[in-house]
Amino acid sequence: MSEKHKIFITRPIPDNGIEMLEQHFKVKVRKKDSPISRDELSGAISQHDAVLTILTDRVDGELLDQNPNLKIVSNFAVGTDNIDINACTERGVKVGNTPEVLTTSTAECVFAHLFGLTKRLIEGDEIMRKGKYKGWGPMYMLGVELKGKTLGIVGAGRIGSEAARMAYKGFGMNIIYTDRGGNKELEQELSAKQVGFDDMLEQADFISIHVPLTRETRHMFSDNEFKKMKNSAFIINTARGPIIDEQALADALENKEIAGAGLDVFEDEPEINPGLKKMDNVTMTPHTGSATWEARSAMAKVAAQNIIGTLIEGEEPVSILNP
Ligand code: GLV
Repeated sequence: MSEKHKIFITRPIPDNGIEMLEQHFKVKVRKKDSPISRDELSGAISQHDAVLTILTDRVDGELLDQNPNLKIVSNFAVGTDNIDINACTERGVKVGNTPEVLTTSTAECVFAHLFGLTKRLIEGDEIMRKGKYKGWGPMYMLGVELKGKTLGIVGAGRIGSEAARMAYKGFGMNIIYTDRGGNKELEQELSAKQVGFDDMLEQADFISIHVPLTRETRHMFSDNEFKKMKNSAFIINTARGPIIDEQALADALENKEIAGAGLDVFEDEPEINPGLKKMDNVTMTPHTGSATWEARSAMAKVAAQNIIGTLIEGEEPVSILNP
């Protein structure tokens, strides 16, 4: 019976996940390595029992209505803001995601930006490549150290906690955090202190964002928040772009209200606010937080297993958000 299930994958993913699915199902992988159009996705949903999506594929009630027999949308990401989970639940469609396996990669991405900013890597690289280096100088290209500085973690879930761990254990940073609940483990392990949001803005030397994008977190950082931060503080975003009001960030940097920003995600990807591109105290990566061979092949495995576990009796999915 399960052999008959048809699976659609919207974009090439690592082979290990595809091979897992092919052992059980008829699998169609869209070959183009570019975002699928809404029309094409709608057509695919109408003809398949499960769809493996990536984070730029928007799935809503109207698309789901193309196929009353759709069983699962398995998202190749931990974040699921691209999927209307309520609409899925109302229609009996499961939603899978890929937590845990990308935690290390994304937390390491935070440090790529922290060091990029504090060691002025982008500026330095450009100086070297353009032949502008005229020799060592006592006051030349000074940055700041991480040791002893305070890192504010916004959202002490899996990735936020791992970034905090790396900061405390690896680089001797002090940790403060905000979280809707609390994280006692983090407090014991890292002497981390839970603080109110405004206190974090005022106290942190570095702020790293680790909350999901929701109605409440959209533009969580805007003019007022940047004004409350230290002028010497840096902000890092490896979560979702719209959590930061990008124009407000560009203005805050222009007005020297904060010292710099490290961004892996953008408000209107793949577009980038032109103001940010001009700043040499901004490091940018193209949403590659989870882009390691280790994380991506593990994500393929989890995304595949979420489908297998949903469609085959006796198999268990890894992570279904609306079980
Ligand atoms: C990446 O941004 C993810 O949510 O997995």
